[in-house]
Amino acid sequence: MSVKVELSRRSDFPLLENQPELVYLDSAATSLKPRSVLEAERSYYEECCANIHRGLYRMSEEATRRYEEARHSVARLIGASDPDCCIWTSGTTDAINLVAYTWGEQNILPGDPIVLTGLEHHSNLVPWQNLATRQQARLRWIEPRPDGTLELDNLDELLEGARLVAFTWVSNVFGSISPVQEICRRARAAGATVLLDAAQGVPHLPCAVEEMGCDFMAFSGHKMLGPTGTGMLWSRRELLEAMPPFRFGGDMIREVWRDRCTFNELPFKFEAGTPNIAGVLGMGAAADYLLDVGMANVRAHELDLLTYARECLGSLEGFELLGPPLDQHSGALSFVYRGIHPHDLATLLDRENICIRAGHHCCQPLMRRIGMSGTARASLSLYNIRADIDRLAVALEKASQVFKGVLF
Ligand SMILES: Cc1ncc(COP(=O)(O)O)c(C=O)c1O
Repeated sequence: MSVKVELSRRSDFPLLENQPELVYLDSAATSLKPRSVLEAERSYYEECCANIHRGLYRMSEEATRRYEEARHSVARLIGASDPDCCIWTSGTTDAINLVAYTWGEQNILPGDPIVLTGLEHHSNLVPWQNLATRQQARLRWIEPRPDGTLELDNLDELLEGARLVAFTWVSNVFGSISPVQEICRRARAAGATVLLDAAQGVPHLPCAVEEMGCDFMAFSGHKMLGPTGTGMLWSRRELLEAMPPFRFGGDMIREVWRDRCTFNELPFKFEAGTPNIAGVLGMGAAADYLLDVGMANVRAHELDLLTYARECLGSLEGFELLGPPLDQHSGALSFVYRGIHPHDLATLLDRENICIRAGHHCCQPLMRRIGMSGTARASLSLYNIRADIDRLAVALEKASQVFKGVLF
């Protein structure tokens, strides 16, 4: 992607226009939003602020049309051929809990092994821990190597008797890309169902969900240029049809009597109550935006930035990148720098108008495994440019001056 294209894309993001001095390097936490996403939310409230699937008047029909069109857009982005298999949720966490409470309670029995990796965000760990406690199941672990890649030599052993494998597509700490197809293929050959946490994958990499081999995929709108409080669960029709609903109330029913009810068809069976309509329209607009840029271009642009960042930051004395080889790297750069505590670094960088994340990144077991209380993490998106990396390098050197004589 040429510099010209990068810059024209930057002007799509009002926050960058409002704060031209800002260097935003925390997109793994949440991304900035392009104007079209803000416009989709605003125009819902200004043009068709009615509830969906209920009204018989034109404004409600228009809101419903936009809502379902947004579902088609996100389905297109992830390569799902059946939008009815795309369930709106409030985010990745919500989508994973939906699976844990429905499919999980139906299918995980006492003693069943659930296989996770040591890379998992608490969102893809605590729901399974909790399910394991409720069902007296057991957790098994695919271990990460120090660079965030996964140790798969003993995978077949771990998969013996496993009912579920739940793992992340891209680590939010290391930016390491998991070998999704290989893990899915081996897990399914062993008879396990697979859930993919795609929170850090969908925003950065081309996605063909039906070819990846997973049974469930969860991701968030707010990390892929969409609004907070939005997300999606994708699954295969036969699995979703066999699962009981997660939440109960309006819209998810077909007929209700005083003592019983029947449930609606997919996807509505899993979408009880009035949803975040404006947010969903925003997430649809985010998907359209990414489709317009092209996910192969997003990946190429981020690879270019990662290459540059690894060279530029790697040449700083005392800079240590925690991460995989470049071809397995996406989005997030975790690092340690000259023994400076990540929180101090983040605070000093903030004085230079640079936003990075510092801490355990909701991965406390992983931090324990690598023997750290936290890391500094700079994470990228399509609106970042090489000049952002240059600013980070200069600010890191400046920060090191503060500690001169204290730490080194
Ligand atoms: C890999 C991964 N999984 C799950 C989540 C949870 O996402 P959300 O808070 O949007 O539900 C995150 C958020 O940082 C993440 O990075």
